[in-house]
Order: sequence, then C-alpha cells, then structure tokens
Amino acid sequence: MLSFSALSVVATLAFSAFTSAMPLDPTSAVSTVGNLLPVPALPVGVPALKRDTPRSVAAIVADVTVQVTPYVEQLKYINKQNATLEVIEPVVTNIKGVFASAVVEVQGLMGLSADVILAPVTGTVAVTVAELAQIIAGLLTLVFEVVGVVLGVVDSSILSCVTYLLVSLAELVGCLVCAIVMLVDGILANLVATIVPLIGAIIPIILQLNVLIVIKIFGIAL
Ligand SMILES: *[C@@H]1O[C@H](CO)[C@@H](O)[C@H](O)[C@H]1NC(C)=O
Repeated sequence: MLSFSALSVVATLAFSAFTSAMPLDPTSAVSTVGNLLPVPALPVGVPALKRDTPRSVAAIVADVTVQVTPYVEQLKYINKQNATLEVIEPVVTNIKGVFASAVVEVQGLMGLSADVILAPVTGTVAVTVAELAQIIAGLLTLVFEVVGVVLGVVDSSILSCVTYLLVSLAELVGCLVCAIVMLVDGILANLVATIVPLIGAIIPIILQLNVLIVIKIFGIAL
C-alpha cells in the first residue's frame, strides 16, 4: 500500500493532470486536490452525479469498460492508411470524456459508507480486493493495449502529436485509479498491490508513454 504522503504526491500529480486534461467545462470540474478529501460539492452539469443512488466503484469501473469498448474497437483495427490524427483524435477525446465523468463520480463517493462504495456490480455481497483489482486491471489492459496498437501503427510524422494525445488519456486513466485508491484507502487493503501482477502485459506501454501518475501509483520501476 502507498504511504499517505506518497499518495498525496500522486494525487497532486493526478489531479493537476485531471484539471488540465479535463474535456468538460472547466468551471464545473473539481479543481483542487483539497476538494477530494471532504465530500466535494456536486458540480453542476455532470450527468453521472444526478443519480439518486450513488453507484459503487465496481459499478462505475464496469460501466466505464462498457462505454469505452466501442471506441477501443474503432482504434483496434486502424492501419497505416487510416491512422490519421483526424481519425484518432475524436475517438480518444470520447474515451477521455468517459474517464473524466468517472473520476468525478468516484470523487462523489468520498465520505459515503463502505457498503455503498464496495457494493458489487450485481448481487449483494461487497466486492473483495481481488474482484475489484480484476475489474480495474481489465479496464487498464483494454485501454493500454489499444494505446500500444495506435503507437505501433501511426506514421512517424504524427507520432509526437498522437503520443501527446495518448499521454493525456493515460493521465486521466491514472486519475481514475488514483481517485479509487484514495477512496478505498482504509476500507480495502492492498488494492494497488493486487492490481500490479495483473497488468504486467501493459507495463511496457505505460513506460513508453512515461505516464508519471500511473508509474507512481503502481510503483513501476524505471
Ligand atoms: C481502418 O481500416 C481498416 C482496414 O480497412 C478497418 O478495419 C478499420 O475499421 C479502419 N478504422 C477506422 C477507424 O477507420
């Protein structure tokens, strides 16, 4: 488990990236790390927060996976001919939008009971650390694998633009993980340590992008 001070450093990194990467109206974004610790005021205009019953972390992450899958599918089969910025950018922007809403929704769970936060996707028994790690690792793998595909296909003339775009996506993914880790800290032990062995396949892509937030959260050695 990360120490609290290490977590604070990561959180600061994550949420400065979050506010700069946030595709939504910046006036409605949660703008400081400080807003994380107490229950943040509900930003207006974020549909995810208008639910009567807050969704659990597992339900949010599972839904992000469902929502990003069609976008991932669009990027999965790009080739040299159609791997252009015009094709890639809107798809990545859509994926970022899904993650940004999820970050806000997870932050909205701060201060709620463990029953709510750890509710399962279906059924009534609270998720275990292994189950939640599996759901999160599945989402990370889905996203970073396709990031790897895109990086491998794009022409060198647009590689730096595309890399920049993918780094901004990866930072938002890191924000979501960071928000989850902070939220479950104290109610679910060893989440990070349980995720790490499940994401071995995507670590080279994370290192290639050099996404500091993700590297720090998972303590990936450079
Ligand atoms: C790019 O072309 C391939 C091969 O024709 C196709 O399968 C894929 O769907 C195309 N992707 C996009 C995003 O247009």
